[in-house]
Amino acid sequence: MNTVLLMSDARYFRVDYVINPYMDTAVQPDPAAAAAEHDALVRAHLAAGRKVELLPSAPECPDMVYTANAAVVRGRRAVLANLPPERRAETPYHREWFSGNGFEVIQSPYEFSGQGDALACGNLLLAGHGQRTDPRAHDVVADFLGYEIVPLRTTGPRWYDLDLVVAVLGPELLAYHPEALDEPSRARLRGLGRELIEVGEQEASGFALNLVSDGTTVTMTAGAPKLAAELRERGLTVVELDTTQLRKGGGGVRCTALTLDNP
Ligand code: ARG
Repeated sequence: MNTVLLMSDARYFRVDYVINPYMDTAVQPDPAAAAAEHDALVRAHLAAGRKVELLPSAPECPDMVYTANAAVVRGRRAVLANLPPERRAETPYHREWFSGNGFEVIQSPYEFSGQGDALACGNLLLAGHGQRTDPRAHDVVADFLGYEIVPLRTTGPRWYDLDLVVAVLGPELLAYHPEALDEPSRARLRGLGRELIEVGEQEASGFALNLVSDGTTVTMTAGAPKLAAELRERGLTVVELDTTQLRKGGGGVRCTALTLDNP
C-alpha cells in the first residue's frame, strides 16, 4: 500500500479563504519555502521506493496541493470527491486526470472529502463523517469500490478530515487520537482487532497522524517525537519532514498524496 501516489505541487498554494480552523488569510505560505517543502516530500516518497504521479496545480485552485481530497481510489476505479464550494474548481482537473489515465470514474452526489475521509485498511475503509462527508457518500463508495465501511465520526471542525485523526501504519497497526472520535466510533475502531497506538492532543493537532506509510517506511511531519519513537520501536523506518508551510492551509504529509495502489 502507498507505493504509488498522486501528488500535485505548491505552485499556486495560498490561503484565500478559511474552511478549517488552521487557516488564516493573514498568514500566507512563503512560496519558495512551500515549493521546497513539497519537493522534499516528493523526494522522500521516491527515496522510499514509491512511485509518484504528478498532476500540475491550477492557478484558480489554491488548495490543489492537498491531492488526497481529490478522490478515493481502488484498483482502476475512482470515486471523485464532492468538495466544499471553495474547492470545486479542482474537480474537473481530477476527473480529467483519472479518465485520461484509464480509470473508471464516478463522483459522489453527496458531500465527500475523498481520501481525507476514506482510509483503506485491507478490505476495510475507515470512513469519516460529521464534517465534510455525508454518510450517504459511504454507501456510494462501498458499492463502487467494494469496501466494507467502518464509519467513524469526528467530533469537531479541528478534525475536519479523518486523516488528521487516524493513521494506517500497516494492515494490523493503526494510530489515532481518541478524543477526536465520538464514543461509538472509538468502540468500533477498538473492535477491529488491530493494534492501536494512541496519540495525544498536542501531536495530533500538529498533524502527526497525517502520515503516509507503506508498512516499512513512515513519512511523517517533524515535531511529533512521541509518535515517531513509538513507530521506530515497532521496527518501522521513520522519515520526519518539515511541514511548516503546508500546515498554514491546515494540512500535512498525508493530505498531499492520494494513494493509487489500494488493492
Ligand atoms: N485547506 C484544505 C482544506 O481545508 C486542507 C485540506 C487538507 N487535506 C486533508 N486530506 N486533510 O480543504
